[in-house]
Amino acid sequence: MKLYTRTAGTGLPLVLLHAFPLSSAMWLAQRGGLAAGCQVVTPDLRGFGGSRLGDDEPSLDAMADDVAELLDTFGLEKAVVGGLSMGGYVTMALARRHPSRLAGVILANTKAAPDTPEAAANRETVARRLLDGGDLLDTVPNLLGATSLERRAMVVGRVRGLVGAAPAQAAAWAQRAMAARPDSFDTLRGLTVPALVIAGDEDQIIPTAEVEAMTKAIPDARLVVIGNAGHLSAIETPETFNRAVTSFLTDLS
Ligand code: MLT
Repeated sequence: MKLYTRTAGTGLPLVLLHAFPLSSAMWLAQRGGLAAGCQVVTPDLRGFGGSRLGDDEPSLDAMADDVAELLDTFGLEKAVVGGLSMGGYVTMALARRHPSRLAGVILANTKAAPDTPEAAANRETVARRLLDGGDLLDTVPNLLGATSLERRAMVVGRVRGLVGAAPAQAAAWAQRAMAARPDSFDTLRGLTVPALVIAGDEDQIIPTAEVEAMTKAIPDARLVVIGNAGHLSAIETPETFNRAVTSFLTDLS
């Protein structure tokens, strides 16, 4: 599947994969802040933003294969690939299916464990509600940290806009794809490239223990926990997020 993609800058290729149920629009501050040092490539994962959903069964593997195809389109043999939350799940699927395409990995506000049966069942409920005309705006308070909810009105408004724009079909498809994802700890143990793990100290969705377990599993990983950041750290605290990425990329090259 060909993905609609926004890019900025030149140099070391850095592909950033967005969270659910957002789009490449969430990486605005990364395209702006990181383009001086690298080629920032931010696709809309299938079904979101400008990318078509297609007819495949829900699967993060399909999303990962799309990203491998995107690298081909851009003539990139390898790239640093980073993802936030669902984007992190896709990054881990890419590491499983196309490990030779990775020059480094960034896993932000994500986890390696699969869904519990209860969480998977809940995703199916959400998927059906979406296909029945429901929306996801009630999830916005969970996506953000307390600091953003109390003091960053612009961020809250922006995230509401991004979540409100998510197409129901794609959001339902992605919920089912995430419910079916496997345990990724073995994939992380087998990573042969350096990794940056990013967490938010106010993340209500990814517990710190998950992030620490992930960091421990990766042979060459560094962990950065961002203060006053919730689940959408790249949007909530973009300067700190970008500093962590820049320092990682500098050490890589
Ligand atoms: C995301 O932010 O991508 C989602 O919260 C991930 C999930 O539902 O597990």
